[in-house]
Amino acid sequence: MITNLKTTFAGLKLSSPIIASASPLTATAEQCVELEKAGVAAIVVKSIFEESIAHNSQELADVLSHGEETDYLDGYIGEQMVSEWRSTLKSIKDACTVPIIASMACRKIDTWERYARVADEVGVDALELNLMNVARNTRHTPYGDTEHHLVRTVEVVRKITSLPIIVKLASNMTNPAALVDRLKACGADGVVLFNRPYPVDIDIETREYITGQVLTTPYNLATPLRWTGILSAEVPAIDYALSGGVKNWQDIVKAILAGASAVELCSALYEHGIDYIKELKQGLEEWQQSHFEESVDSYRGRMNASNSEYAASLFRAHYLHFKS
Ligand SMILES: Cc1cc2nc3c(=O)[nH]c(=O)nc-3n(C[C@H](O)[C@H](O)[C@H](O)COP(=O)(O)O)c2cc1C
Repeated sequence: MITNLKTTFAGLKLSSPIIASASPLTATAEQCVELEKAGVAAIVVKSIFEESIAHNSQELADVLSHGEETDYLDGYIGEQMVSEWRSTLKSIKDACTVPIIASMACRKIDTWERYARVADEVGVDALELNLMNVARNTRHTPYGDTEHHLVRTVEVVRKITSLPIIVKLASNMTNPAALVDRLKACGADGVVLFNRPYPVDIDIETREYITGQVLTTPYNLATPLRWTGILSAEVPAIDYALSGGVKNWQDIVKAILAGASAVELCSALYEHGIDYIKELKQGLEEWQQSHFEESVDSYRGRMNASNSEYAASLFRAHYLHFKS
């Protein structure tokens, strides 16, 4: 039986559901060319982080010992970062034929506008908004403010560009279905479930915060799998990519059955090297053949919550009937 791995995500036509997600593995044109050779269907370039401006400018201020000049340094470093980002995006876009997605993580609305304008001018294929922050303040950030900020961000970016907008969400949103529905109405074309905050751990001997488990484990799949199954049924008008804990081709089958059009992979590429993409594609193709699935579309969302047989498993929160 003839089967194919083609899929569409956020208006992008992909040769397979395997996207390299944003990470240091996607930082340069050379790396992206190697990923393309290894068979990846699209690449999300490592994010530009607005918060790096303050960090780099403080470092420079410390070296210069002129604390009062940080405003000037912020401006200077901000300019330099954007200019480097523009040339990196351009060199990646010139070197690759697969869709290139520019990822940005900003705080201020005018920075979102500025970065979106740059990516639009370079002519990347889509934008991914890395919308994650640690809302931690009871007085200045009222309940629901994070979600309002996300919606406002998509509205603003939509006015700047006609490129597909992909929203990479954190997993701790209040009622993600209502949020995704609103993001779609404001012009988002795709959602990535989920982003992952930098992991923390504690060294109990030195009593220091240290970096936790950076690469994901198979256990990280459960949360994005559940929400892909729920959201693809509840808000079917937008496309989903699952990110988090995808370790093998079987996990990609699961993501698609739950309703994802694609997966965004990172840790597995660190663990096995980028040639692992070939193995993933082969496994997926063989599974489709042996299960008589002509294409990704023919089984995408077959196990999502629109089917009452599966909804109960996806909606289940409590360990009611668990027996050890
Ligand atoms: C070392 C490292 C760097 C990352 N850098 C970024 C980044 O720049 N932007 C972003 O949106 N996500 C970033 N991520 C998150 C990944 O893109 C991905 O969404 C997450 O690791 C879950 O997928 P995985 O289980 O395949 O690793 C990073 C992850 C790792 C491990």
